[in-house]
Amino acid sequence: MAKITELKNKDLLGMKELSREEIELICETAETLKEILERPIKTVPYLRGKTACFLFFEPSTRTLNSFSLAAKRLSCDIVSVSASSSSALKGETLLDTAKNIEAMKTNFVVVRHSVPGSAHLLARQLSSSVINAGDGTHEHPTQALLDILTIKEHFGDLERLKILIVGDIEHSRVARSNIWAMTKLGAEVSLCGPPTLIPYSIAQIGVKVYYDLKEAVKDKDIIYILRLQKERQEKGLFPSIREYINLYCITPEVLKYAKPDARIMHPGPVNRGIELTPEIADSSKSLILGQVLNGVAIRMAIFYLLK
Ligand code: CP
Repeated sequence: MAKITELKNKDLLGMKELSREEIELICETAETLKEILERPIKTVPYLRGKTACFLFFEPSTRTLNSFSLAAKRLSCDIVSVSASSSSALKGETLLDTAKNIEAMKTNFVVVRHSVPGSAHLLARQLSSSVINAGDGTHEHPTQALLDILTIKEHFGDLERLKILIVGDIEHSRVARSNIWAMTKLGAEVSLCGPPTLIPYSIAQIGVKVYYDLKEAVKDKDIIYILRLQKERQEKGLFPSIREYINLYCITPEVLKYAKPDARIMHPGPVNRGIELTPEIADSSKSLILGQVLNGVAIRMAIFYLLK
């Protein structure tokens, strides 16, 4: 495979747009930069004089704080705008907000918004590098990249790895970004969840679909569990939370059907007892907190490569 040394676009909008070579470059850069996080003084001057603006119009713990830490570790200045404290409350559009912030001389705009395509809209209008931190149900590319890095650390590479994504596929930007990324790297991706939470169109892009969890987990190397996104769901997509738990919660009983060395992943936030039981979330099988740490390294790599 030909090695590349830079990304082709000024923005990071989705995994659909990234090539396999670009994904490998981002992961290799993150592996190198991750070492900085182990130092007593965790700061390097690579982005001194640059400024990143965070436009977060949906809640976030992991993504916002890891982007913020990633920028600080590289000596990048930061400013934050949230829906609840900005002039969006007075009717200002996302584009006007972004253009006004850019007029203050920013280099990066990191945006999370409930509308699919919002990052793409800003990318066309701004000269700053726009980074998609989650656009509605569409894409969450840095989540997929940190997941890929975590898988590479544990399994070497993704070629022929069997990965099962479980749960609310319909509303999941994480699932969409990961399906693009994992299949580009050669993994065999399968999905499992209630039929009403798996869009018909997704089966058309070469992933296998299961509705029976015990059958689905059988030969998988990774069981990637999604959050049940109650805030994006219409009523009546499944009978009750109790029924969802009975059929799709990852429990020690379900894992009896899985490979003994299968690993558990989840993007967070975790609904303990709904998507997986606490003993599995906290077990040695779980890579969840490793994913969170890799979120800082991946976001450092993105800032570094887009600088
Ligand atoms: N995984 C993820 O996007 O988490 P946050 O919503 O807390 O950022």
